Amino acid sequence: MVLDFLIAHVSDLHVGSGEFMPEKLETCIDEVNSLSPDLVALTGDLTNSGFEREYRQAKNYVEKFKARTVVIPGNHDTRSTGYIYFEEYFGEANQVLDLGNVTVVGVDSTLPDNDEGYLGRDRYLWLNRNLGKVEKKDFRIVLVHHHLIPVPGTGMERNELIDAGDVLATLVSNKVNLALCGHRHVPYTWQLENLMVITCGTACTGYVRARIPQAYFIIEIKDNSMKITLKEVGGKEKFLRSIKY
Ligand SMILES: [Fe+2]
Ligand SMILES: [Fe+2]
Repeated sequence: MVLDFLIAHVSDLHVGSGEFMPEKLETCIDEVNSLSPDLVALTGDLTNSGFEREYRQAKNYVEKFKARTVVIPGNHDTRSTGYIYFEEYFGEANQVLDLGNVTVVGVDSTLPDNDEGYLGRDRYLWLNRNLGKVEKKDFRIVLVHHHLIPVPGTGMERNELIDAGDVLATLVSNKVNLALCGHRHVPYTWQLENLMVITCGTACTGYVRARIPQAYFIIEIKDNSMKITLKEVGGKEKFLRSIKY
């Protein structure tokens, strides 16, 4: 399978929070637009409290990305019954995008008014059904807000999906190449079997741990390899790794 596909993975905007940094988000949008990616993947917590005014503002920012976007909700978006607004502003939370040789599946891991994440059996079946239809040669990407694998520097191990083991097994058995997550604002990558798991930082909030900048990922899928770069918003980029898939 030979592909040439560029992804900007941006997450955790937290529009409406006191720590929201609009100038960082504007810079991030400009930088991403200058890359002309094939896809901008936004992995949740676009709003801080799930309020409609935050959704309205977040939607205005997302519309500034010139590339195609895919958006899933995070735990902050579904607070205060914000999941109702999510559908109105961003569409179905659980979604399948067929982008030629790339299939993107977004899945809602949130529990309203609860910061923990869970998919459950119905969604394993839904994932099996939808990933089962994907052509063998296609590159498979799944978006889920909560962590699939623990990420260092995020405190107690309570940020993973409650059923992370079952979800990982579902993704690996369906030959998913790439999982994109958000949630605790620590950029990190793990490889598990043939699955690359990327957890994004926050692009534009002050909710960061020591020495972690506002950042996003640039993922280049080309000639059977995946190159992962961490880009500091308004700052330097750091090549992290390149893997064959
Ligand atoms: Fe967040
Ligand atoms: Fe979150």
